[in-house]
Amino acid sequence: MTTRKGIILAGGTGTRLHPITLGVSKQLLPIYDKPMIYYPVTVLMLAGIREIAIITTPEDQPQFRRLLGDGARWGLSFTFIVQPSPDGLAQAYLLAEDFLAGAPSAMVLGDNIFFGHGLPDALAAADARATGGTVFGYRVADPERYGVVDFAPDGTVRAIVEKPERPPSHFAVTGLYFLDASAPDRARAVRPSARGELEIADLLQSYLDEGALAVERLGRGYAWLDTGTHGSLLDAGNFVRTLQDRQGLQMGCPEEIAFQKGWITAESLRAEALRLQKNDYGRYLLRLLPA
Ligand code: DAU
Repeated sequence: MTTRKGIILAGGTGTRLHPITLGVSKQLLPIYDKPMIYYPVTVLMLAGIREIAIITTPEDQPQFRRLLGDGARWGLSFTFIVQPSPDGLAQAYLLAEDFLAGAPSAMVLGDNIFFGHGLPDALAAADARATGGTVFGYRVADPERYGVVDFAPDGTVRAIVEKPERPPSHFAVTGLYFLDASAPDRARAVRPSARGELEIADLLQSYLDEGALAVERLGRGYAWLDTGTHGSLLDAGNFVRTLQDRQGLQMGCPEEIAFQKGWITAESLRAEALRLQKNDYGRYLLRLLPA
């Protein structure tokens, strides 16, 4: 199988977080001690993915480039792609088609934060599926805000319904999509919805219709955090702070994962750590270095 490539969709208008996002992209806002996009980047890294396309608005791309560079300092390769207007999640596969060049993909939304024991295993299982796709369902109290899984009585998945008034289940589809190489072709067949977007639900439906979509449930031991409102943004930051302070371990730390995976040398890690040594994040990196 061709190596899977990553896509981070980090465009959009951030309307629900105005006035904060009038001047800065949502996915660059802090979640406690690091920018939001670090969390989805590290999810792809945990899946073993090193070639990643970052899709942003035209206005925000320079800031993402400034923050992330070409990816080499984390053992990655970033390709920056512009989405001229927020025409829907499925459009990402059209914009990234040349980048993917026939490879399967894992797309993560730039505002989705995952945490949980066993996440690397769940990612590895999704990666191992050579054809079709995998999405992850997660129980939430307010499913009407998300794409929702509609289960048939026998437990198979009938449909994924976007923001239904009457949710067919409590299982939201998270913003992490492992799809095979046919995704761009399928995205081309998706027509704009009533709200004028190329809906991810329609793209996923084409897999479902062929029995080619696995819906894995992330159990209650996982945290899938929302950053969609002012309150939930603060909650997500507090969650990260609570956990990191308690464990003395970083959540969503690209340098750590890159070093553990052998993608960067101790020398490179030291250089990164020294750049940041004035704060706890940098001191944490220093402690990762072999004595
Ligand atoms: O977070 C998971 C949910 O994400 C899924 O359950 C839904 O099925 C999926 O549609 C999506 O729902 P949202 O209401 O969160 O979609 P939103 O339009 O807010 O976009 C999600 C992120 O993607 C957001 O950070 C902005 C970015 N985006 C969105 C659109 C429509 C883009 O970069 N480009 C776009 O065209």
